[in-house]
Amino acid sequence: MNAEAQSPRVAPRPLCYGALELPSRYLLSPLAGYTNLPFRRVVRELGGLGLATTDLVSARGLLEGSAKSLQLIESCPEDRPFAVQLFGSEPETLCDAAQLLVERGVDSIDINMGCPVRRITAGGAGSAMLCQTDATLRLVRTVVERTPVPVTVKMRLGWDDSQITAPEFAREFAQLGVAAIAVHGRTREQGFSGAVNRDGIRRVVEAAPSIPVIGNGDIRTVEDAETMFRETGCAGISIGRGALANPWIFRQLVERETSGRCSPPGNFEERLALLRRQFGFLSDQIGERRAVSMFRKMGHWYLKAMRVRASLRNQFQIAQNRGELEQALAEIAAAGPSTGNRTGLLPEMHVAVPSGPVDRW
Ligand SMILES: Cc1cc2nc3c(=O)[nH]c(=O)nc-3n(C[C@H](O)[C@H](O)[C@H](O)COP(=O)(O)O)c2cc1C
Repeated sequence: MNAEAQSPRVAPRPLCYGALELPSRYLLSPLAGYTNLPFRRVVRELGGLGLATTDLVSARGLLEGSAKSLQLIESCPEDRPFAVQLFGSEPETLCDAAQLLVERGVDSIDINMGCPVRRITAGGAGSAMLCQTDATLRLVRTVVERTPVPVTVKMRLGWDDSQITAPEFAREFAQLGVAAIAVHGRTREQGFSGAVNRDGIRRVVEAAPSIPVIGNGDIRTVEDAETMFRETGCAGISIGRGALANPWIFRQLVERETSGRCSPPGNFEERLALLRRQFGFLSDQIGERRAVSMFRKMGHWYLKAMRVRASLRNQFQIAQNRGELEQALAEIAAAGPSTGNRTGLLPEMHVAVPSGPVDRW
């Protein structure tokens, strides 16, 4: 990315979900396994974030008091504004789960209509909702009517290329009182393959002119975000994998918007400090012992992005307790990145995604 590049300054319209005005147009997309409270907190501290959403949470699991669901919805005063993303196919269950969340102070409820994973679609939830017009509209209408905070929907463009249903759903959702729609510009059949279809996102924007449509998919840089705005006319953008690779991206976007310039993403030293901070938040939340094993997944991406050599990454991954983790981090800090330097730009990181037939995910 060219951090020095200039672009004309245009004061954007504030992004509002109903009466809720968001601090910026840049949102963190839910990434199951990653967008937990500790990650949301560090991204918020870096600045620029308009709204963060939890990983997808089972509406039924929440009502049954499942420990996993309750952990996923944990929040704190710094984690605002924040939305919980629910999945489920029964209107009553979703309404009751939404009610429980409103009582706990959630700012907005997001309904998952995009998840392609069989475990979710088999029960009629996630992207399967893109194929069931009547049931989906009934569910969304009921949740909107009975939930006193803004209700949004996150969806894909359709089930496959022959069923691009997102524009028609968007038109209906706007009528039903949905506050905003986020669209990942791929079909369910595509999984994560192929290019994001920005033309498809533009058709959703045009179908629902009365509510904000959020463009999503493959945004890694400030320039990618500008292309998304320009080619789709979307009101905001949401970033998932790009935020794992570069948690500074939201701050960069706001800097670019307000001054035409943006600072570089975090260097090796700053990423190491961020990793430690996120680990600290996780330890506070679930205790040090569990945090060591739960942080491995996230640590993998930090260390990849920091260009830490494989043997040291492995040492980090096999740490069994805080002491071993600190020892690994001390050695990582001493060794520095395998390419580039400690205080300069690091090469961009590619975040791997599930591949192969979506039916087997
Ligand atoms: C590991 C992973 C987990 C995801 N989990 C969710 C999820 O819980 N809910 C959801 O709506 N989308 C989920 N997504 C989709 C993302 O929110 C996003 O729509 C998609 O990755 C495209 O945006 P990106 O290119 O900015 O990552 C997930 C994607 C990945 C890679």
